[in-house]
Amino acid sequence: MKALILVGGFGTRLRPLTLSVPKPLVEFANKPMILHQIEALKEIGVTEVVLAINYQPEVMLNFLKEFEAKLGIKITCSQETEPLGTAGPLALARDKLIDDSGEPFFVLNSDVISEYPLKEMIQFHKTHGGEASIMVTKVDEPSKYGVVVMEEATGEVERFVEKPKIFVGNKINAGIYLLNPSVLDRIELRPTSIEKEVFPKIAADKQLYAMVLPGFWMDIGQPRDYITGLRLYLDSLRKKSSSRLATGPHVVGNVLVDETAKIGEGCLIGPDVAIGPGCVVESGVRLSRCTVMRGVRIKKHACISSSIIGWHSTVGQWARVENMTILGEDVHVCDEIYSNGGVVLPHKEIKSSILKPEIVM
Ligand code: GDD
Ligand code: MG
Repeated sequence: MKALILVGGFGTRLRPLTLSVPKPLVEFANKPMILHQIEALKEIGVTEVVLAINYQPEVMLNFLKEFEAKLGIKITCSQETEPLGTAGPLALARDKLIDDSGEPFFVLNSDVISEYPLKEMIQFHKTHGGEASIMVTKVDEPSKYGVVVMEEATGEVERFVEKPKIFVGNKINAGIYLLNPSVLDRIELRPTSIEKEVFPKIAADKQLYAMVLPGFWMDIGQPRDYITGLRLYLDSLRKKSSSRLATGPHVVGNVLVDETAKIGEGCLIGPDVAIGPGCVVESGVRLSRCTVMRGVRIKKHACISSSIIGWHSTVGQWARVENMTILGEDVHVCDEIYSNGGVVLPHKEIKSSILKPEIVM
């Protein structure tokens, strides 16, 4: 079985992190986003993953080569010369996706995190016999997603409306599809949107079915959602394999610490924290609802909450970093500084406090 992951787009909403690496390679819970997906695909027997990419393919491929061998899965690239949207890349990769088996293939958005119930999805697809299956989930604020109106009993999709301006429903497209090869006959090789141009037509032909995703789901392409997503992911990890979570008197709630990170005396860490490889957290530090990427040093008595600390940055002693502060790669926050929602571009030194949310260039 094959799969295609849509990895285009510039990831602007996740800057400054995406100034250093393409969005799918930004770590989430100590693992690049895209690896969560590739591992889930491998687990249900996918043998080849096609990355539909529109910039920096070398960076991505170099990185993933290592995992090709480790995971025993073929990873190839299908590169666009102009961004083809969310459907065009499927037409471009047509020859890679179709083989003699006539089997359906998976398509994934690269920035969604969930429990990936892909086995259940294959079963669902077989049972309804339509051309395409999509996974849906309920959210409170549907307007920033693709909204699906479906018949509850059968899952048959009546309408698909991308980013509706008026309320149509609260079940939204989760960005996980299983498509028959015949869907490719509906897509032209040009910039085109699967959500706006393809799904509405398949729905009109009564060939589109939706399955409500069991478990958690989040689009982690924006800082606030990334931090919420980490909470949901760690909650689910607690239920599935709690031994991977940190324990001890300094830990509150769900905390993930890479085995090469060092934590000093008298810290209080959690809930909902991920600490990456090679990090040094000195004594008396307080961390909650945050991600600390590879190689970061947090000095004595610093306090960080609801923030993301980019690779190889340092946070000075007695510093207070909070409220969706996002530090890019190699940022240095001096001692006793306060950051309230600062978004700091890579390689900066912060010598004076950031009192209200702003971008520091
Ligand atoms: N190859 C390629 N080329 N990929 C692209 C392009 C392109 O031109 N444009 C976007 N993508 C990829 C993105 O990298 C992402 O993985 C996926 O397509 C969806 O694009 P986003 O920019 O993240 O879209 P969104 O989050 O606003 O909305 C989409 O996801 C929602 C769920 O998170 C839609 O599919 C919605 O219907 C859905 O609800
Ligand atoms: Mg998205």
